[in-house]
Amino acid sequence: MGTSSDAGSAGKSQTKEVRGVALVKSRHPGSGEKAPAQIMTLVFKGEGGKGFREWPARLWEDPRGVGASLSVGSLVLAEGTVVRHNQEPQLRLTRLTPLKASEEEIQSYIPQSSLPSNIGMSRIDVFMESLSEPHLRRFGLELLSDPEIRSLLEKAPAAKRNHHAVVGGLLEHTLEIMEMGDRIAPVLRLNRDLLLLGLLLHDLGKCWEISSKPGFAYTDDGRLLGHMFLGCDAIRKTADRIPDFPVILLKLLQHFVLSHHGEMAYGSPVLPATPEAMAVHMLDNLSGQIYAMRAVKGADGDGWGYERNRGAQIWSRGSDPVALAKLTESENDSSGQGAG
Ligand SMILES: [Fe+2]
Ligand SMILES: [Fe+2]
Repeated sequence: MGTSSDAGSAGKSQTKEVRGVALVKSRHPGSGEKAPAQIMTLVFKGEGGKGFREWPARLWEDPRGVGASLSVGSLVLAEGTVVRHNQEPQLRLTRLTPLKASEEEIQSYIPQSSLPSNIGMSRIDVFMESLSEPHLRRFGLELLSDPEIRSLLEKAPAAKRNHHAVVGGLLEHTLEIMEMGDRIAPVLRLNRDLLLLGLLLHDLGKCWEISSKPGFAYTDDGRLLGHMFLGCDAIRKTADRIPDFPVILLKLLQHFVLSHHGEMAYGSPVLPATPEAMAVHMLDNLSGQIYAMRAVKGADGDGWGYERNRGAQIWSRGSDPVALAKLTESENDSSGQGAG
């Protein structure tokens, strides 16, 4: 299609005009008299084709119904200007042109986890093989022997937005917290077998809740049942395949799923009732929060950016050794001048 995107860098540069190819990640009509015709999320490729930049976008006027005809997961040539809205940059679209694209081109606009799925899956296999309690070990290996679960877990995003919202994001997020759990179990004297299984299972239901296709839409099962029920259901089906699997272990495994949001206000029907369940909740939360902070780009060139989920300002320079070295240097320079 031969159109380069400058939207990936529009926030950093002074250029306020944007013209580039983008994937329609979400689209719905505005409601009310003063609302835009279409409210969209567009995904542009970053500078030099590296990385992605997701923009909230608004099409205020759509007399020919071009915006309304776009389907989620299609490519468009988007033209417009960058405006500030609620501290965040937003695209005010002036023109949208639908583009014909191959499946391969469309896939290239869907962010993927940097963790290769075969490496992630084999690391999880190794964790399950390392469990010492025989019933729990058997359970873990039985779960991972299910080809449907393996292929879904390789691709599923961990969320529609906020954290690990990429193809393979659930695997990356799950492995990240299992690695953390493996390290903290001896420090906090936690039951390592239960903790590692709880971490593996906590969001497993997302395999069926969120589609890994463009837009990461909620599935019918996801909307009707939610990932906690879907996870508990998968746990029961796996336990049913193991002769004499202890009922108390089945309940403890389901408890990890039901309590992992930590509070009833956040959708957990029960609060964590064991130290391992509390650890699953905390590690899950930690992984999500750190990911969301890292995803914030310093939009104004000063390293500061806005994280929508917590409504907080994030300073990316605060953990960048190169940026900190420069700041330290300029501090020394100015104090040296003062002394002279
Ligand atoms: Fe969850
Ligand atoms: Fe999670």
